[in-house]
Amino acid sequence: MCGIVAYIGPREAYPVILKGLKRLEYRGYDSSGVALLNGDLNVYKKKGKVAELEEMLVGKDVHSNIGIGHTRWATHGEPNDRNAHPHISASGKLAMIHNGIIENYSQLKQDLLRKGYTFKSDTDTEVLLNFIEDIKENNECPLEEAVRIALKRIVGAYVIVLIDQEHPDTLITARKGSPLVIGIGKNEHFLASDASPIIEYTKEVVYVNDYELAIIKADELILKNLGNERQTPFITKLDMELAAIEKGGYDHFMLKEIFEQPQTIHDCLRGRLDAESGSITMSGVTKYAEQIKNANRIVMVACGTSWHAGLVAEYIFEELCRINVEVEYASEFRYRNPVINKGDVIIAISQSGETADTLVAIENAKSKGAIILGVVNVVGSSIARISDAGAYTHAGPEIGVASTKAFTAQLAVLTMIALKIGYEKGTLSQERYLQLVRELDAIPEKVSTVLLQAENIKKLAEKYKDASNCLYLGRGYNFPVALEGALKLKEISYIHAEGYPAAEMKHGPIALVDEALPVIFIATKDSYHEKVLSNMQEIKARKGKVIAIINEGDEQSIALADDVIVVPEADEILSPMLSCIPLQLLAYHIGLAKGFDVDKPRNLAKSVTVE
Ligand code: AGP
Ligand code: GLU
Repeated sequence: MCGIVAYIGPREAYPVILKGLKRLEYRGYDSSGVALLNGDLNVYKKKGKVAELEEMLVGKDVHSNIGIGHTRWATHGEPNDRNAHPHISASGKLAMIHNGIIENYSQLKQDLLRKGYTFKSDTDTEVLLNFIEDIKENNECPLEEAVRIALKRIVGAYVIVLIDQEHPDTLITARKGSPLVIGIGKNEHFLASDASPIIEYTKEVVYVNDYELAIIKADELILKNLGNERQTPFITKLDMELAAIEKGGYDHFMLKEIFEQPQTIHDCLRGRLDAESGSITMSGVTKYAEQIKNANRIVMVACGTSWHAGLVAEYIFEELCRINVEVEYASEFRYRNPVINKGDVIIAISQSGETADTLVAIENAKSKGAIILGVVNVVGSSIARISDAGAYTHAGPEIGVASTKAFTAQLAVLTMIALKIGYEKGTLSQERYLQLVRELDAIPEKVSTVLLQAENIKKLAEKYKDASNCLYLGRGYNFPVALEGALKLKEISYIHAEGYPAAEMKHGPIALVDEALPVIFIATKDSYHEKVLSNMQEIKARKGKVIAIINEGDEQSIALADDVIVVPEADEILSPMLSCIPLQLLAYHIGLAKGFDVDKPRNLAKSVTVE
């Protein structure tokens, strides 16, 4: 994710771009920059928010009628001044901004290095830009043609916008996999990642499709496909208000992020899991594969929702890798003077990468000789930087305070690591490995199917929103999902909720059960299903209300439960990525029904950087 804005026309470009970038900061905000053409190609960029760029540009030459701007969400190359966009080509004549990931950038970079190119940044974007320029110069072809040739040979997702000092009247842009909107004004054009920077100037827009390329002048928009065939721009009228646009048409960031999960899990797997060949490529993990395989134990260290992801990972790693796993609350682990042996592997799980307890816990562990792997969402964050290696979750900015898409992305990454290590260690058979790889690859599609239950879940929220207590029960891989579901409800609706291993009910909590107590079971078909059914009966016998998350056709659960939510079947190891979705939606709709701010719940912060 990131925000891109570009302008060409009679206005001063810089104010249009700056304002637009501020509107897009929810898409990414670790660094930003602009490139402006007025005879000179002036590129200004820096780490930090757009306001810091604005401050830096006071007094600078920002006059121009054509420009491009970018607010970054880093994927390749940590957030700093030189990795910020726009990037400048080797000749110094081209500037480019990019939203997305170029998966085959390292091969392209090697080829360009062999040709004598040097690079100022660590980004995949700069590689693509020089790849385009190399084609332009070798083929002596127009920039538009070089872009078309290059884009046919790259793998990945992109929106790119280029300006060329030798053609100051033209913007060139192309799109595949990342969003791009072109605003049509009177002798002026606006480009952006969504319509929020555009809507105040024009409501006439063109949504560019995948594999399309546009050559844009102030008074002309030419749209082509990569086969150089003219396409007719389809102009639509914007009917959304600004606030709705930032949320992608959803009422809240939390809902948007819940519905983004098919895409974010796909993004997490992309470039790493290849279901065809059965390969899992994770360079960070490969570097420490021997140490992980030979570790006496793996310690998962995290807080909150990330700690729940660690609990799921405990079951997965022990099953697939046969390595002892401990899961620690970071806040306890850091103060307990834990036993850390050299060679211990610590997996730090964190969306923000800035959670103080997790950061200090792994600093302590590292100082005692442990190997730190980071499973982090924010590239270049403190936890990512202190880790010896790791894997980013690529879930994009998570704006809603309650973690949703980051959780499923964490599960996807942790599952890939366990599959890779288990298979290489020989504790996971090739047959089972390939079956799980194929099933994991199909999870994004299954998440989309779960999301079709949203209306049903909204009705259940209406029915149970006045409960004062709730119990969430699950077993095995879905026990941590019960904890996560309870946390979501607490965070968003302020209803007291507890998650428990279903079997643990009989050791006390069952005293809570009466007709006023909703009990949510994760009862998907797995090796624990028969036992969960018995637990359901225990609750029903005491007049508790049962809501069950089940698979299609589970007549036994349907007969017992007061309400059911159906999710697709999946291997029990992967089922938490599906069973957590209804619990996210249930919490969201109950919080909404109670009139609370679901994106910014009371007392909470998105990143707990205090101890
Ligand atoms: C989860 O919805 C909460 N926002 C909170 O528990 C969060 O998971 C926890 O603070 C850990 O944050 P991190 O993943 O950024 O480290
Ligand atoms: N992959 C590019 C980078 O890391 C673009 C990231 C983005 O979409 O912001 O700079």
